[in-house]
Amino acid sequence: MAYGEWSIEKRAGLRNDSFSRDTEVPETGCLSIIVLGASGDLAKKKTFPALFNLYRQKFLPPTEVHIFGYARTKISDDELRNRIREYLTQGKGVSSSVHSEDVSKFLQLIKYVSGSYDTEEGFRALDKEISGHELSTNSAEGSSRRLFYLALPPSVYPSVCKMIRNCCMNSSDRGGWTRIVVEKPFGKDLDSAEQLSTHIGKLFEEPQIYRIDHYLGKELVQNLLVLRFANRFFMPLWNRDNIANVQIVFREDFGTEGRGGYFDEYGIIRDIIQNHLLQVLCLVAMEKPVSLKPEHIRDEKVKVLQSVNPIKDEEVVLGQYEGYTEDPTVPDNSNTPTFATVILRIHNERWEGVPFILKAGKALNSRKAEIRIQFKDVPGDIFKCKKQGRNEFVIRLQPLEAMYMKLTVKQPGLEMSTVQSELDLSYGQRYQGVTIPEAYERLILDTIRGDQQHFVRRDELKAAWEIFTPLLHGIDRGESKPKPYKPGSRGPTEADELLERAGYVQTHGYIWIPPTL
Ligand code: NDP
Ligand code: BG6
Repeated sequence: MAYGEWSIEKRAGLRNDSFSRDTEVPETGCLSIIVLGASGDLAKKKTFPALFNLYRQKFLPPTEVHIFGYARTKISDDELRNRIREYLTQGKGVSSSVHSEDVSKFLQLIKYVSGSYDTEEGFRALDKEISGHELSTNSAEGSSRRLFYLALPPSVYPSVCKMIRNCCMNSSDRGGWTRIVVEKPFGKDLDSAEQLSTHIGKLFEEPQIYRIDHYLGKELVQNLLVLRFANRFFMPLWNRDNIANVQIVFREDFGTEGRGGYFDEYGIIRDIIQNHLLQVLCLVAMEKPVSLKPEHIRDEKVKVLQSVNPIKDEEVVLGQYEGYTEDPTVPDNSNTPTFATVILRIHNERWEGVPFILKAGKALNSRKAEIRIQFKDVPGDIFKCKKQGRNEFVIRLQPLEAMYMKLTVKQPGLEMSTVQSELDLSYGQRYQGVTIPEAYERLILDTIRGDQQHFVRRDELKAAWEIFTPLLHGIDRGESKPKPYKPGSRGPTEADELLERAGYVQTHGYIWIPPTL
């Protein structure tokens, strides 16, 4: 099939697809996607499966795309293919609909090049392979597109970016481009992040750099702007006059599981709170952007971050689960928190006085991520509703995407009494048969389309590190000690006490039962 025909077919498909957008894949030039760190955990579990899903849904031009894996491990093309094969079909709603023919065709698109991250030899070999592919597709000179995905530890970003710049750039005079995707954690504190940004900034222009935070690719995170700015309901309510507190929560019911070495160096604040939860906070708290242009949205996010007050020691609770240091890759005397509750206060007209409670923990009693907006008590409450609990609006990012409003209604029956109930939009029930794409699929597609809306801009990153660096340095110096908690628990009890002090009122006796399909 000619590329033009493919494109028409793809456009037709787009209309029914959950990716449906105004932007489309540019129609010229062959596309090379290079996964650096191809032998690693992220590459096999997330990057290659996301590429596979894009491929099988025809978002990658089949005749013009080629995928390259690069890492130090000496393996053949087939060995890499065998390593990733089983992961390709493990995503949500994928296994039943995948044809083994698709898997084989996709795997044949992948070539592997082995080389080091700090010498030119391997990158020259990589460039030769990519150029060979570009020649074979007869792309016009200057029109080819190269996407470098750094699925690597941040320690090697500087040398890898330099090698790409020195050895692997293509000319872009006919619409071609070279882009790089960098994973979090981007730096370890304000200074190291700024150094890294300066280094990469000398090699690439900002529009070429995609700092990925996969939470920005999640369905309900992407829904936040629509929810807030396309619904009259929320406009008058979304402020300090009505909202008592906001919680943004990440819980995992497993520990560091083989990533102890990495995790111990970073801890829960750098791993989850400074990036994933803070990005969500920005979307909850920002003002309406002038338009949906990426720069307009990111301008508003930066303003929120710049309005955050310094964190107070008494508004932080740190925890470490018992047994964490039994991991052989974790030092016995580790001070690294695996749990943290941190209250952020936004000093602006909309949010003054409203605590934003960010909470994240590993080895807890459940796995979920949610935003919980709790409203103030009803003034002059003739029904004594307070006993029933406050209104809450909950957006559950995962698992089982949903949003629901907890509200007080009359208890059905003869008596006039009240009860807490909910208005419920559970995605599994409302959108039956719709597969929600993995965050990485959307974000990789965005990088191909050149849409930076869901990526972190340099000044955003700087402002995010400014908020957390003093706290992190205190922990690194051993001044703040994490409290022990039992694996499978809610975390340290002090965290619940902090929540209460911040004004969160727990509704007792109310249990939300997710609808069954
Ligand atoms: P890995 O530890 O699996 O590393 C990826 C590859 O990098 C390895 O296969 C190895 O390849 C190479 N590598 C490992 N350590 C070093 C080192 N010290 N120096 C040079 N090369 C090294 O990492 P992940 O795949 O788990 O993560 C990659 C990036 O993605 C990280 O920045 C991580 O924080 C981020 N990330 C990971 C997630 C996950 O679920 N795993 C989720 C979100 C982000 P070889 O030896 O063959 O060269
Ligand atoms: C990653 C963290 O960024 O996000 C991991 O490094 C964490 O520690 C993961 O497990 C959680 O992602 P998700 O999409 O499963 O919530």
